[in-house]
Amino acid sequence: MLSSREIRQQFLDFFKSKGHTIVPSSPVIPFDDPTLLFTNAGMNQFKDVFLGLGTREYKRAANTQKCIRVSGKHNDLEEVGFDTYHHTFFEMLGNWSFGDYYKKEAIQWAWELLTEVWKLPKERLFATVYQTDDEAFNCWKTLTDINPEHILRFGEKDNFWEMGDTGPCGPCSEIHINLSDNPDDASLVNAGSPLCIEIWNLVFIQYNRLPDGSLEQLKDKFVDTGMGFERICAVLQNKNSNYDTDIFTPLIRKIEEITGKKYDSETNQIAMRVIADHIRTLTFAIADGALPSNEGRGYVLRRILRRASRFARKLEIHEPIIYKIVPTLVETMGDVFPEIKQNQKQVEEVIKAEEESFSETLDRGLEIFDSIIEKLKAENSKVISGEDAFKLYDTYGFPLDLTELMAREIGFTVDKQRFEELMEEQRTRSRETKKFFGAPAIVGKIDTSNLKKVEFLGYDKLDAEGKVVAQENDLIVLDQTPFYGEAGGQVGDTGKIIYDNYLIDVVDTQREGDLIIHKVDKIDFDLMDKTVKAVVDKLRRKAIMRNHSATHLIHKALREILGTHVKQAGSLVEPSRLRFDFTHYKKLSKEEIEAIEHLVNEKIRESLPLIHHRNIPFEEAKKMGALMFFGDKYGDRVNVVQFGDYSMEFCGGTHVSNTSEIGLLKITSEGSISSGIRRIEAVTGEGVEKFIDEQLQKLNELSEKYEQLLEEKLKLEKEIATLKLQEKIKELDTFLANKKQIDGFVIVSGIVQVDNMDQLKELGDVLREKLRNGVGLLASTFDNKVSFVCVVTDNLIKEKKLNAGKIVGEVAKLVGGGGGGRPHLATAGGKDISKLNEALNQFELIIKKTIQN
Ligand code: ALA
Repeated sequence: MLSSREIRQQFLDFFKSKGHTIVPSSPVIPFDDPTLLFTNAGMNQFKDVFLGLGTREYKRAANTQKCIRVSGKHNDLEEVGFDTYHHTFFEMLGNWSFGDYYKKEAIQWAWELLTEVWKLPKERLFATVYQTDDEAFNCWKTLTDINPEHILRFGEKDNFWEMGDTGPCGPCSEIHINLSDNPDDASLVNAGSPLCIEIWNLVFIQYNRLPDGSLEQLKDKFVDTGMGFERICAVLQNKNSNYDTDIFTPLIRKIEEITGKKYDSETNQIAMRVIADHIRTLTFAIADGALPSNEGRGYVLRRILRRASRFARKLEIHEPIIYKIVPTLVETMGDVFPEIKQNQKQVEEVIKAEEESFSETLDRGLEIFDSIIEKLKAENSKVISGEDAFKLYDTYGFPLDLTELMAREIGFTVDKQRFEELMEEQRTRSRETKKFFGAPAIVGKIDTSNLKKVEFLGYDKLDAEGKVVAQENDLIVLDQTPFYGEAGGQVGDTGKIIYDNYLIDVVDTQREGDLIIHKVDKIDFDLMDKTVKAVVDKLRRKAIMRNHSATHLIHKALREILGTHVKQAGSLVEPSRLRFDFTHYKKLSKEEIEAIEHLVNEKIRESLPLIHHRNIPFEEAKKMGALMFFGDKYGDRVNVVQFGDYSMEFCGGTHVSNTSEIGLLKITSEGSISSGIRRIEAVTGEGVEKFIDEQLQKLNELSEKYEQLLEEKLKLEKEIATLKLQEKIKELDTFLANKKQIDGFVIVSGIVQVDNMDQLKELGDVLREKLRNGVGLLASTFDNKVSFVCVVTDNLIKEKKLNAGKIVGEVAKLVGGGGGGRPHLATAGGKDISKLNEALNQFELIIKKTIQN
């Protein structure tokens, strides 16, 4: 049996042998085509060639293209899981002719590959052609040995292929395989039967569908084909279901293993197919830079993931599991599409976080759904109201299509229209809130209908003359201006507009389409049609430029140090600081941050010159390999900002002319802003100076505080020691109460708890004073030994020749130690704590002996 890997390779080899250049798959995110959310066909990357806007070095190409069909014209989402041959993500094997060969070769080669290389049973193959396409009909009839009865004509719906609502299109010829018991049953073709499926589509592109719906004839004729890889694998591997091929079985096995369920009952099979399918879409889309969100393609991904989570519930799984399948997918496809291997961690992290956040409301939402259905059943209705669907969406995060899917499963429908109305009301409410909070709402305030594109002079000049072409309240538009209007994260310029001897403060500059609008202090004289001088606040703008250029260096450094999975996800460039958001799956370590900062500073010191490519064709910029800001839309002509041979990005912002002007970069913080997205904040130039000053000042304040605290600490310690001593002194009184009288003087002894010898000596001094006429001995245990202090009052030193040093020496011997000192006060110690009491008992005897001697 051929493996899927071999099948893919044989397709590519076949077309290589027919003079085709094998090209890489383009990403599933078509960042340069605003008409598409996801790449939906192999021909997408050649759209410019079909439309006559771009050229390639080859006239024939072939590849395997990653495709996602979940939105727009080609949307297979609803079938996925319920049948065995539709997918949200699939590979499309394709071959193309750009004004080279046409129908004849396309049909002949398709037939050759299917029947001679892969030896598919000819008697099961059908060819369909567009109803009026006699040329294609005759090619099939005369150039192949297909059963002529198996050539069928169909209308626009089946045999006229279009990329989207607009774009390249043309009649097509499809090849279907009938695997039913009756291979000649033509009624199964295009009838939605799993036994008779389309495997290959040959499109003869010759038109461009325009936005008004009309068809424009293209200059050349093109061949664009697409074969469903998963389907041809199923056919060649003799499987009834795509999910039984070696493309999917590892995924299904993994899902069985994680869930502990078997791929047997219909419920389980559907759920496992959905999950196996959706994990592919999620992984490839996230690896190519998309992220789940509440808008556009991000919302499509979120919906797909939530759909998968809900099917996991059908397998009685309530915790995140979908992310656990990613490694298996990477194992099976990572060598053909290395981007999923490179971005594996990021993909897992993002999916897991999404699963976790939805999981919190999913179970509750499912309960609510059930109660809605119960209520409807009691009312004998089968329509879920827009209000209920909206509540599920708004409170429990159920995308409409999820609610619809669940409704359909039990024969219910959703009042979609009412749902959309409620959505619109919510959008209006949130727009109003935004306005209220002062979002830039310039549109509508100024009549822009007669205005031309404003020329931006601010790459080269910071002051220039311009003519006032619009003035309304506090807004002024000039025909040309050096002021930069906020865009691409770079804030707008401030400065002055000067007319005669009027100086008008510009407090902000915004961009609206082709207009650059100055927001000024309110003025009450008419400047319309006057020529004025516009002067940008230079110091502020230069600080902004330093920060903007620094973000480019940071972007590049991040990709070098963390990996090329890092993609810009947003930025803010102000005079005082910069912020850079990017995709990465975990917290940056201290070492990583240091390495990034170090690398950027090295590039600053290397004094890399700015190479500013202005207004160059988009295609050219792309070819140069400039980095694009993911998710941005670009026009036909773009600017590219390059620093030496280090960094090169699409960018309309303003920049320093040499990296050395940035001075120095300091990263001031790093953190997470949402799952899979990190944020770096940094300062440059005088911002660093200020930052260092602030840090030093903080340091000074801290060290002053430290000194104070230290002083306080010493003071407190002293106080505590005094308090403790007073406590101990009280204990001395108990010892004194138990004093013994011998030979005209008293002796006193006892055990006290102190921490060191100094305290013990201090207590000895106090005891000595209290004794007046006597000998005292205090013992204490600390540092794992016994310590003694012995005191003798002055009179006894003279009269009885008593000596504290000698006495304590004798006592200490009893605990295995020794010591001595002066006659009135001496200390000693020993290790044998167990002998302490005995030593104290001997004290009196020792004194007596001393006196006798
Ligand atoms: N572009 C054609 C398709 O997607 C081949 O079916």
